[in-house]
Amino acid sequence: MKYKYVVSAVAAASMLCSCGSKDGVSASDENKFTLDVLHKGAEIQSTMYGLFFEDINYGADGGLYAEKIKNRSFEFPQALMGWNSYGQVEVRTDGAPFPKNPHYVRLSDPKHAHKRTGIENEGFFGVTTQKDAEYRFSVWARQASANPSKIRVELVDPASMGESHDNVHASIEINSKEWKKYTVVLKATEDVQRGLLRIFLASPNSVDLEHVSLFPVDTWQGRENGLRKDLVQALADIHPGVFRFPGGCIVEGTDLATRYQWKNTVGPVENRPLNENRWHYTFQHRFYPDYYQSYGLGFYEYFLLSEEIGAEPLPVLSVGLACQFQNEDQKAHVPVKELQPYIQDALDLIEFANGPATSKWGKVRAEMGHEEPFNLKFLAIGNEQWGPEYPEHLAPFVDAIRAKYPNIKLVGTSGPDSEGKQFEYLWPEMKRLGADLVDEHFYRPEAWFLSQGNRYDSYDRNGPKVFAGEYACHGKGKKWNHFHASLLEAAFMTGLERNADVVHMATYAPLFAHVEGWQWRPDMIWFDNTRSVRTCSYYVQQLYAQNKGSHTLSMLLGDKPAAGNEGQNGLFASAVYEASDGTYIAKVVNTDSIAHNVTIQLEGLADAQTIAKATRTRIQSEELDAENTLDEPNKIVPVKVDVNLAGKREINSTLPAYTVEMWRFELK
Ligand code: AHR
Repeated sequence: MKYKYVVSAVAAASMLCSCGSKDGVSASDENKFTLDVLHKGAEIQSTMYGLFFEDINYGADGGLYAEKIKNRSFEFPQALMGWNSYGQVEVRTDGAPFPKNPHYVRLSDPKHAHKRTGIENEGFFGVTTQKDAEYRFSVWARQASANPSKIRVELVDPASMGESHDNVHASIEINSKEWKKYTVVLKATEDVQRGLLRIFLASPNSVDLEHVSLFPVDTWQGRENGLRKDLVQALADIHPGVFRFPGGCIVEGTDLATRYQWKNTVGPVENRPLNENRWHYTFQHRFYPDYYQSYGLGFYEYFLLSEEIGAEPLPVLSVGLACQFQNEDQKAHVPVKELQPYIQDALDLIEFANGPATSKWGKVRAEMGHEEPFNLKFLAIGNEQWGPEYPEHLAPFVDAIRAKYPNIKLVGTSGPDSEGKQFEYLWPEMKRLGADLVDEHFYRPEAWFLSQGNRYDSYDRNGPKVFAGEYACHGKGKKWNHFHASLLEAAFMTGLERNADVVHMATYAPLFAHVEGWQWRPDMIWFDNTRSVRTCSYYVQQLYAQNKGSHTLSMLLGDKPAAGNEGQNGLFASAVYEASDGTYIAKVVNTDSIAHNVTIQLEGLADAQTIAKATRTRIQSEELDAENTLDEPNKIVPVKVDVNLAGKREINSTLPAYTVEMWRFELK
């Protein structure tokens, strides 16, 4: 991706030089803010800060989706990828129970008492189990001969030095010629990282097996087709206002056949067809040939998750353009006149989310367990599209959706670049088409973030609103979740907040990454098979989301917003009011390499009015390259303290170098 950006001379200078000492503050260093507590500004949308989810970095299969079996339906192009097989194992398709997943395996007698037939699955980076935890094994099976058959299911640790590899096992009798689901709960006796699930044929009679599954019993909300509890908890703990899914580039597909099709992701999980995950081959230098989308985590689950974490769902659908990075030939895309099925998918999705349980798609939702509508309000069409083909494709969607669902807010895109030719072309086009919001993406280096404090100050107030839909500071030569990146994100976010009249949504991206399976970094939450870590960027997102307020307030440094401009000592700031509890919140970010004195003078106070109680929260590190890791997850976390400011009409603080500081206070 090519992009240009302008770095203000001062912002850049503040990265390089400082005019005081690192430890002390010069006496002449005075940074006087005025915070107007009387005049409430724009209303801040509940969607202001949220989450962007994509199945990248094993974010869904192998990640949030708690299924431990890879290729559970034998549908990968290499039907036994992820499996070892031994003895008499055949992959078959005749008489399969789930038409969209036609493959299954037959295990037959190895014809010798000392030989074995079986299959074993390697899981996602191991079938990892934790001592005393319970795992629900299930399989669809039928006896493949006249008599019942038996299987023995084992969780094994092939690296064990014990007498037996067997961690826990169970036998299941397969006693029907019809396909039936068999379930057993296994309680692990060991902590095993690189375990396997092994299934032996345990009788001479053949057996057919399909949809082999293993979930922890303890999932989020205890659901059988469940999500990893620790990961969902991390999402819920942000208090996100919006949840965008399912991507990202996977929405578009490398070709149209592999685009994300939501209808394939609802209904019984066993009959959701597999899709390629483009991230398995996008980067040859990080190649994951076993990365597919099982769709076990599908649109129903995304809607449910949004509801449970209190976020507005924001689905993104294909606009009929295959990924433009991967397809220069226009023939890769659907001609506009053939878009009807795509448009119908969008209309049907709205019915799936909001229609009565008696409607065609509302019924599918209700049968899955959610009789009540999900109350979908937003829908994005197209991910990172560009060129005239995008508005051409988008226009018929807008017409059809507006005609049938005038209240749905539509989200268009300004392409993959944060500025430049395409960006400048697309914004007016989105306005012309009447998009309600425009999705902007910026994965940019430090200097860009430092230069963008005023980005939204001059945006058109009569056009679409902004959805900063994918962003993260990608440190120059430092593509990991180091503290400095999060500091600059925090600085930039003050500009989002100050302009909350025009910025209605912002989501950091990507969200998740498996430490053994990532293609893209930085990411907000890293995990392995049992642990997860909240990065510094996570804590910045959380701080802003939990303290987003209901209305903006004016907070000026001298007579200007603090946005890292000339003479502002690398300081950025914003302030909001929270009507639900009557608190005032001021955020100040010191991006400079030295400490700065800050005074926040409260304006608009009644004569006797003063601060009642106050807390100060800081996210701070002098080590710019420091990060939280799985082994050291709490290296940099927000630190909150009560500060006695009773009776005061101003806040005085010395912000250490490289500090995100937030004051939350009440008045009396
Ligand atoms: O977040 C990773 C990718 O970045 C997304 O899939 C895409 O939209 C963007 O290019």
